[in-house]
Amino acid sequence: MAIEDHQKGESSTSAESRGDHAMADGPANAGSLFSGTSGSSVEESALQHLNIDYTDDHDSAMGGMTVQTSTMSVDSSIYNYVHENGRTYHKYKEGKYMLPNDALEIDRLELQHQLWLITLYDELTLAQVKNPQNVLDIGTGTGGWAIEFANRFPSAVVIGSDLSPIQPKYVPPNCHFEIDDAEDEWTYSQKFDLIHGRALVTCFKDPAAVIASAFNSLVPGGYLELQDVILPMRAIDDTLTGTALEHWLTITIDAAAMLGRSWKHSGDYVRLLEEAGFVDVVENHFQWPMSTWPKGERMKVLGRYWQEDMLRGLESLSMAVLTRGAGFTKEKVLELTAEVRKDVVNKNIHAYIPVVVVYGRKPTE
Ligand SMILES: C[S@@+](CC[C@H](N)C(=O)[O-])C[C@H]1O[C@@H](n2cnc3c(N)ncnc32)[C@H](O)[C@@H]1O
Repeated sequence: MAIEDHQKGESSTSAESRGDHAMADGPANAGSLFSGTSGSSVEESALQHLNIDYTDDHDSAMGGMTVQTSTMSVDSSIYNYVHENGRTYHKYKEGKYMLPNDALEIDRLELQHQLWLITLYDELTLAQVKNPQNVLDIGTGTGGWAIEFANRFPSAVVIGSDLSPIQPKYVPPNCHFEIDDAEDEWTYSQKFDLIHGRALVTCFKDPAAVIASAFNSLVPGGYLELQDVILPMRAIDDTLTGTALEHWLTITIDAAAMLGRSWKHSGDYVRLLEEAGFVDVVENHFQWPMSTWPKGERMKVLGRYWQEDMLRGLESLSMAVLTRGAGFTKEKVLELTAEVRKDVVNKNIHAYIPVVVVYGRKPTE
């Protein structure tokens, strides 16, 4: 199994200088981009540059930086809603996915799309796909990835599929959206050169089955790429221990498990791809700090975005799961997330979420 090292050409061993350098120079010298196929040791080695910045004095969530999300051209009449505890959820296959599909969540996904682009140095995919013609984005959400891919590869036809019709109406002519359940049998008449899935760790009951469907729907030599966070969040020291944030993470993930969804399988993507028959499987590790606590401009930017994402997402992530799976009332969830919010903006908690990008190739014979 090949190990890709994106550190090549780098002479400095200073963690902070790697982070700053990476911001300017991109993947070839990327401080937070470590890749390989050797599991947790690869993930651990990627932590070298997470060093606490004791001098940082930014107090606001975005540290004076404005995070902008674009205004989507969405006709609200295309929504199918299920109303529950002040949020809305998808109607097709009602109850299956436990995060909302309302304007608040759309806004968070748009922010997160920007966070992914910053994380991957403006790349949409790390797989070495040559001249893609047919591309599929499963669980496309607001379609940001699919639209951007269609813009960058005008000769490709890009399909985005999702349970929720929350995609914009006006999209590039080579981009189409479909309402579909990725856990149903795939009936596409064409084979794809690239199948992509991002931030889907909370989605599937049986991710291995979805990965098998993707394998069967790729051309020989085609790629599957999964980009995700790895739950739960962690810390580089003991500052997360005993916090409301830690408690919330534990009970939310446990409640999802009780509802039949493991939210922890993204750490198994390499194994799942290999078991499905993919070859040359590569994993790349990144981290999103919970705030501006680490040194280095790149880490601080990632921290500002992830903090804002968390602040917008606390309720999205846990309202349905805790009320449906752990017997919480809406008020109790809001009370708890109000406490967690304080931890999210507390720079003395040195927490981060591991981020992984895994891709593999379908053999040519
Ligand atoms: C966290 S969002 C990520 C959206 C998008 N991939 C992104 O990165 O912006 C997860 C998306 O997966 C969709 N989803 C969940 N379960 C699904 C399923 N079984 N089939 C298709 N889409 C699903 C949800 O509706 C939601 O839009």
